[in-house]
Amino acid sequence: MGKIRAGIIGTGNISGIYFKNGNRFDSMEIVACADLNVERAREKAAEYGVRGSSVEELLAASDIDMIINLTIPQAHASVCIQALEAGKHVYVEKPLSVTKEEGRLVLETARKRGLLVGGAPDTFLGGGIQTCIKLIEDGWIGTPIGATAFMMSGGHESWHPDPEFYYKKGGGPMFDMGPYYLTALVAMLGPISRVTGSARISFPERKITSQPKYGQTIQVDVPTHVAGILDFAAGPVGTILTSFDVKGGSQLPRIEVYGSAGTLEVPDPNTFGGPVRICRAGSREWMELPLTHGNADNARGIGAADMAAAILSGRPHRASGELTFHVLEAMHGFHEASERGTHYTMTSACERPEPLPLG
Ligand SMILES: NC(=O)c1ccc[n+]([C@@H]2O[C@H](COP(=O)([O-])OP(=O)(O)OC[C@H]3O[C@@H](n4cnc5c(N)ncnc54)[C@H](O)[C@@H]3O)[C@@H](O)[C@H]2O)c1
Repeated sequence: MGKIRAGIIGTGNISGIYFKNGNRFDSMEIVACADLNVERAREKAAEYGVRGSSVEELLAASDIDMIINLTIPQAHASVCIQALEAGKHVYVEKPLSVTKEEGRLVLETARKRGLLVGGAPDTFLGGGIQTCIKLIEDGWIGTPIGATAFMMSGGHESWHPDPEFYYKKGGGPMFDMGPYYLTALVAMLGPISRVTGSARISFPERKITSQPKYGQTIQVDVPTHVAGILDFAAGPVGTILTSFDVKGGSQLPRIEVYGSAGTLEVPDPNTFGGPVRICRAGSREWMELPLTHGNADNARGIGAADMAAAILSGRPHRASGELTFHVLEAMHGFHEASERGTHYTMTSACERPEPLPLG
């Protein structure tokens, strides 16, 4: 079976790991890249031995089957649509888009053209969360009842060289980090039926303490402390808290899933590995379990590779457009519920992604 030939658009920070993992998977090879900043694309191209060009040239190339869109969130939808209109399948970094309307348009364009859309995060395909899914399916915690997810941070202005966008539309802790937590929850517990939440701006202005913009002030436009409740269609009730306003640290776990027969401690969903720990009902002992699946190292790109395999074989892909849209809708749902003082009923559904085979 041949390989899907992929081109990267957006050769910034995160592109390095995609290039590095480009030849790790049998289904896909990365052969070209492009960026608004053509010079930057050419540098990356030389570093990784691929073709570098303008976006237009890449989209016009007849030997490219699939685009991996690693641009900034504000450009995700437009670059996805350009790729689809050029007849290419597209896989996009998180989040799918800024607004729900743009996200729907991306999915609709793909459907009309008979092409696939997929999107990050793909950490749920790593050994850690795949092991959690296997344990839940095999009944280790009984029937799932609830889950908690916590992403507590003090904000990115202490280390990120250009942190302003985290406090503007499309930013905030939920849109930045929520995709990891929500995708992991949906992969374990299935789709969400409704959400509610409360959100606040705790610090209307933030001082940058990283270089090179040390001392500059950011005006905060979006909520930076977002608390949400999620009802899963299958019954469990989840709680999620994402914050850039926790200045004194936190000792909360990342994700726990509570079942009728035990509790599962899920590893950091921004990583691919473990540890996975479980405490069975009636016991006070936490056991660390060996991982049942591979790809526990930084396997970023596995979602794109799985989509490439799906294109080749005709089976559904796991990090699907429907899944990333569902997560995007839930993130908007928390904010809209907070503004309106109501629950937000989800309009989208998605299948729980098929677990990877053992091993
Ligand atoms: N940096 C990380 O650690 C990290 C981690 C996980 C996910 N992500 C996600 O990856 C994506 C990219 O993040 P990054 O940190 O690499 O950003 P970045 O700003 O370093 O790089 C983005 C690149 O996209 C290019 N670009 C912007 N608009 C474009 C357009 N319309 N057409 C072509 N090129 C365009 C920019 O010139 C830039 O080179 C984001 O969606 C982010 O959420 C980043």
